[in-house]
Amino acid sequence: MKNSFKMMLILLILTGFSSCNKDKNNPGYVFWPDMAYTTASKSYSSSTVFANGLTMQAPADGTIARGTTIYPYKAKSPDDQLKAGMELKNPVEATATNLAEGKRQFEIFCMDCHGIGGKADGHLYTAKLFPAKPRDLTEPFVQTKPDGEIYHIITVGSLSTLMGAHGTQITPENRWRIVNYIRTLVK
Ligand code: HEC
Repeated sequence: MKNSFKMMLILLILTGFSSCNKDKNNPGYVFWPDMAYTTASKSYSSSTVFANGLTMQAPADGTIARGTTIYPYKAKSPDDQLKAGMELKNPVEATATNLAEGKRQFEIFCMDCHGIGGKADGHLYTAKLFPAKPRDLTEPFVQTKPDGEIYHIITVGSLSTLMGAHGTQITPENRWRIVNYIRTLVK
């Protein structure tokens, strides 16, 4: 009895050591691989685990990303556009650095339609690739609007929806920088 116990102990130690080897990059022999490594499912594969048969599940209703603030004003609402203009205050100063970044952002996101000087002569319009005539941003129609209203238009698009929303593409700070930059187009 005592001997067989010793034998078993030695066997166990030997088995244990057989999992080790000198190559640090090699995990050695794995006795129960199904327990050491779980099988990862591909995001877009089908699944037998979930009732809807999909591997990747949508986040729970109402989920928002950490640090996100929900934009409180609705698109296509003249009232909300005016309200945004009255309530939103531009937190970004028109310093040289901010204006330079505003110009850069404008040339990425706005210039193609509105033109380099904001005069509604962007390539997408003049080459007839975009059918709707953009607004001349140097006109009083735009320049008399408070900063918050222009910020609102960038965020949710124009009232007619001819101009689309840019809220998901441009960070809030950069939207304000663009607003500051648009002011310089008339000077
Ligand atoms: C795909 C083309 C396109 C792009 C890109 C675009 N706009 Fe426009 N924008 C338009 C059109 C078209 C109108 C006229 C909308 C209307 O009549 O409803 C307009 C109108 C506006 C207006 C006036 C709102 C109004 O009701 O007419 C502002 C301000 C404006 N754009 C700013 C911007 C800024 C800032 C950017 C970049 C962040 C931008 N736009 C990007 C096409 C564009």
